[in-house]
Amino acid sequence: MTSEPLRHEKYTHGHAAATVRQHAQRTADEAAAFLLPELRPGMRLLDVGCGPGSITRGLAERVAPGQAIGLDLSRETLATARADAAARGLDNLRYQEGSVYELPFAEASFDVVYAHQVVQHLREPGTALCEMLRVLRPDGLIAVREVDWGTMTYWPLDPWIDRFVEVHFKTWYRNGGEPRMGRRLRALFNAAGVSDLRITPAVWCYATPAETVEWGESYAQRLLTSPMGERAVEYGYASRSDLEAMAAAFRAWAVHPDAFWSFLHVEALARKAA
Ligand SMILES: C[S@@+](CC[C@H](N)C(=O)[O-])C[C@H]1O[C@@H](n2cnc3c(N)ncnc32)[C@H](O)[C@@H]1O
Repeated sequence: MTSEPLRHEKYTHGHAAATVRQHAQRTADEAAAFLLPELRPGMRLLDVGCGPGSITRGLAERVAPGQAIGLDLSRETLATARADAAARGLDNLRYQEGSVYELPFAEASFDVVYAHQVVQHLREPGTALCEMLRVLRPDGLIAVREVDWGTMTYWPLDPWIDRFVEVHFKTWYRNGGEPRMGRRLRALFNAAGVSDLRITPAVWCYATPAETVEWGESYAQRLLTSPMGERAVEYGYASRSDLEAMAAAFRAWAVHPDAFWSFLHVEALARKAA
């Protein structure tokens, strides 16, 4: 593509190394478990907002020899995804730059359209869902999974982590997204007029030393090195020293022997009405 992908909002997490590195640990087995039983060899699949492609490659393996395409608006992240696919010799997988608001594909050109943790960042989720449905064939599958940060719970409590959560919500809304998207998925899909809608829950839980260190350290780094923290300062919701105090709180929480963090993710699986 020669023109920049269409954006109606700012992407809250940004593409700093700490963020992309954590996204790259996701797998299709976990993030698409609600979709995998429906996938068949030969299907043509689109992963919208694919990020570094660690989920996309698992989906590609399931539909081979059918083609899987990962689409994202971040050129740098797609470079990571392409290098990963090349290193693994996945020849039914390719990546393309673009926006969910104007997908560079013909109508009805996919059997499956999937998006993981993307719709929560969109100012116009209904428009995006219609665009995903446009490129899906009648009776094709649409699968979306989104977090609901409003269900987040953690222990032990820390006033700076509470402050982070408050600032994170305000920044996310100001960027144009919806951190509580999980609870809205059913309404969004109903409004789009899909058929055979199935809504399921999935819980993310960090409760081993390795999990809490990974999560806490990732958020400490994101606060100090990514647009998540930078925009909070730009919008006047936090100072640089507030970010440092939040990062220190995450690091202390990460190594606490009682540390626990959890939130709900909501999965929507449906067919395009024939
Ligand atoms: C939280 S990451 C999720 C990445 C991947 N799906 C995963 O779960 O690991 C959200 C991704 O959506 C992409 N994104 C945000 N807005 C987008 C848009 N309008 N069109 C396409 N991709 C978008 C971002 O660049 C980012 O890679």
